Amino acid sequence: MQISEVIGKKALQANLADYEEACRRFDWEDVCKELTFFDNGQMNIAYNAIDRHCKTWRKDKTALIWEDEDGHRKEFTFLEARRITDKIANLLKGLGVQKGDRVFLYLPRLPELYFSVIAAAKLGAIAGPLFSAFGPEGVRDRLGDSEAKVLITTPELQKRVEGICKDLPALEQILLVGGRGPLGPGEASFEAEFEKASELFRAEPMDPEDPLYILYTSGTTGRPKGVVHVHNDMISYYITSRFVLDLRDEDVYWCTADPGWATGTVYGLFGPWLNGATQVAYEGRFDPDQWHSLIERNKVTVWYTAPTPLRLLMAAGEPYAGRYNLKSLRHILSVGEPLNPEVIRWSMHVYGLPVHDTWWQTETGSMMIANYPAMPIKVGSMGKPFPGVAAAIIDIEGNELPPGHTGFLAIKPGWPSMLRQIWRDPARYREYFRVRGWYVTGDTAYVDNDGYYWFVGRADDVINTSGHRVGPYEIESVLVEHPAIAEAGVIGKPDPERGQIIKAFIALKNGFDPSEQLKEEIRRFVRERLATHAYPREIEFRDSLPKTRSGKIIRRVLKAWDLGLPPGDLSVME
Ligand code: PRX
Repeated sequence: MQISEVIGKKALQANLADYEEACRRFDWEDVCKELTFFDNGQMNIAYNAIDRHCKTWRKDKTALIWEDEDGHRKEFTFLEARRITDKIANLLKGLGVQKGDRVFLYLPRLPELYFSVIAAAKLGAIAGPLFSAFGPEGVRDRLGDSEAKVLITTPELQKRVEGICKDLPALEQILLVGGRGPLGPGEASFEAEFEKASELFRAEPMDPEDPLYILYTSGTTGRPKGVVHVHNDMISYYITSRFVLDLRDEDVYWCTADPGWATGTVYGLFGPWLNGATQVAYEGRFDPDQWHSLIERNKVTVWYTAPTPLRLLMAAGEPYAGRYNLKSLRHILSVGEPLNPEVIRWSMHVYGLPVHDTWWQTETGSMMIANYPAMPIKVGSMGKPFPGVAAAIIDIEGNELPPGHTGFLAIKPGWPSMLRQIWRDPARYREYFRVRGWYVTGDTAYVDNDGYYWFVGRADDVINTSGHRVGPYEIESVLVEHPAIAEAGVIGKPDPERGQIIKAFIALKNGFDPSEQLKEEIRRFVRERLATHAYPREIEFRDSLPKTRSGKIIRRVLKAWDLGLPPGDLSVME
């Protein structure tokens, strides 16, 4: 077990002042009392996130500060957010969108993205935010599987996925944000429809178990899985934002994640607004100067980001932080990948604050393990389970392991934001619950004698590159479409900056020779088809790849090749 370095408890008036005490007293029912339910236990998360605040002094408080990298800036109060989301809900209704229909959003981080997700929820439609780095195959897989009825996008992004519509019979309407050119069949201008839409919309009363959004995520095998969350999730979103992000009325909060990922949807949209917080959305690439000046200009107080950008900021050096007045910051958090101790020490030095690690997954819907402002941090640990959440380290049979033993990280089902289904794939949903009595996360970890959890790794082949979860199968499927490639196997290779990079082992067809030029062409091939964030940065050509007798590529051997280690038991090999 690691010897821990403890960063002491800060005398803060944190929303969660005493972790142990909160765990003893915690009851999800009490959290519900702080939120609005309609008659018969019905509810709507969008009503709670926006409309509810318009009945209080918060109506004139800023809900969203939006900026882009070209210096554009807009602000919206809660009242304006209500008006806009009401109009978008009416617009969607006018297009024939009904409760349960899928409305997908393939947009940069524009205000329209944030407001359309809320509007879809108001109407009872199921939102599907898509990361704008996806290419045609990534988008087609997701729209096809979900049978999306409406797609909201920009003309630029639409152009990137040109040609996929013929494979999407359920897609009826494309709404173009910022579209000025001529419109084709089934296309409409978002702005023109918005102007026409009427003002008032009463949020649809929803059953707590009604679906809210689908986020696609990757496993070891198969196509991406549509993780379905429901309106009831709001209970977890509200209280984790309150206790872990520690949001208060005077805060200006910035979550750097895109709503195409769970962090962006839950903590860059719903969670903070459920708490009536002012949040910043930034449409732009990572850049140390841009990021620091955004914090300075907006006096950001609470900042939720990820290890990769923090490592990049660290690599950029102190001068970048030194040029800006960052004294407004009072709380920094991170998620998505292991947070290195060096980053926390560097952050103490540069920002005068530690980074608080949090652990969760698309499937858990909200933070499960975290470091709380009023709890000492053991540098390198993910922290302790959220009050009301029962986590454990188990073996394959579901027995709980004692402190110090590495095993499967698992959670007792029953927290409000647990995934409710894998869209139209009950078999893949059941896999999460294969160990009786537990939700199995797919991560390995151990717990120490003080109850702190320590991340060890993934129990499967899922790749985590710059905090983005990528399935090797998706990349392999695109690779084998390349005319020169006979076989491809993909692994995550450890990388000091990005956590892991994607590495492909490739066997070429007869008549093709390895070359640097071919490697470059293969990288471009994947970037253009699948996604600009998920392509093999490293490629190694081999004469053939290790396979089982049934023809499955053995990634374990690829990983051993990569590290120059013995490949282990090869008895299953062809
Ligand atoms: O392996 C864990 C890693 O990210 C996975 C979840 O990925 P995703 O569903 O995309 O959600 C990302 C954030 C909500 C986990 O199974 N992960 C997440 N947080 C941490 C982490 N690994 C190490 N430390 C963390 N704090």
